[in-house]
Amino acid sequence: MQVIKSISELRSMIKKWKKDALTVGLVPTMGYLHEGHKSLIERAVNENDRVVVSDFVNPTQFAPNEDFESYPRDIKADAALCEKVGADVLFNPEAEEMYDNALTTVSVAKITETLCGRTRPTHFAGVCTVVSKLFNIVTPDRAYFGQKDAQQLCVIRKMVKDLNFDIEIVGCPIVREADGLAKSSRNIYLDTREREAALCLSRALKMGRDMVENGEESAAAVIETVEREIQKEPLARIDYVEAVSFDNLRPLVKIQKPLLCAVAVYIGKTRLIDNFIIE
Ligand code: PAF
Repeated sequence: MQVIKSISELRSMIKKWKKDALTVGLVPTMGYLHEGHKSLIERAVNENDRVVVSDFVNPTQFAPNEDFESYPRDIKADAALCEKVGADVLFNPEAEEMYDNALTTVSVAKITETLCGRTRPTHFAGVCTVVSKLFNIVTPDRAYFGQKDAQQLCVIRKMVKDLNFDIEIVGCPIVREADGLAKSSRNIYLDTREREAALCLSRALKMGRDMVENGEESAAAVIETVEREIQKEPLARIDYVEAVSFDNLRPLVKIQKPLLCAVAVYIGKTRLIDNFIIE
């Protein structure tokens, strides 16, 4: 497994692979890899001849008041995990290599203005720009994204369709700790009491999912149950609880598939997201 920092070096390696008609999978990440990322890489390794994992804390998707500086980084541990799982390249560019005074951005309208887009209005343009760049650099056959970032997955799918990227987008299930907390690089910010409190997200979502599976048809009733459960936790402050169509992210009145029930909740200063999807 090779760690590559330069775009041109990565491109020449990919050119050779393509000449040999090898398929390429891309797993875009911001590093500090955990079991969730591992499951994406494993799937990519199973489904492609070669796999590139990108490891880049992308500055353009953080607002000035967010955690870009403190976002956890551990390139050595990331490289060891990628090697173990069977990735071929860990692409770890510097910000200058990726952006080099760039003036171009890629943005998707409407579906980036709801859910996380309300509190993070510049976030998805940063994500779409860096993901487009990675797609153009790596030209993968398939790219792998976690369903924990369900809105991101929906936005990337729309961008790929709208801009005619010839890439299959593979959404992979959320990986959870044994007690239900969704794996996230940001879980490291939680102290012991907050870690305990954070369980209210998965607990509340499980109650919501059970309601839907037992035939509840009212989106408002599901949302109310999820909100009420989270509000029992004194350290939790709800950003949003929503039930939307997983196609276009429009709010649902009556529960229908594909359903995305998504939450964003501050536990202390840490903003966590989680969801369930019924397709
Ligand atoms: O999901 C992430 O880790 C990031 O948003 C992504 C897709 C790697 C873009 O920086």
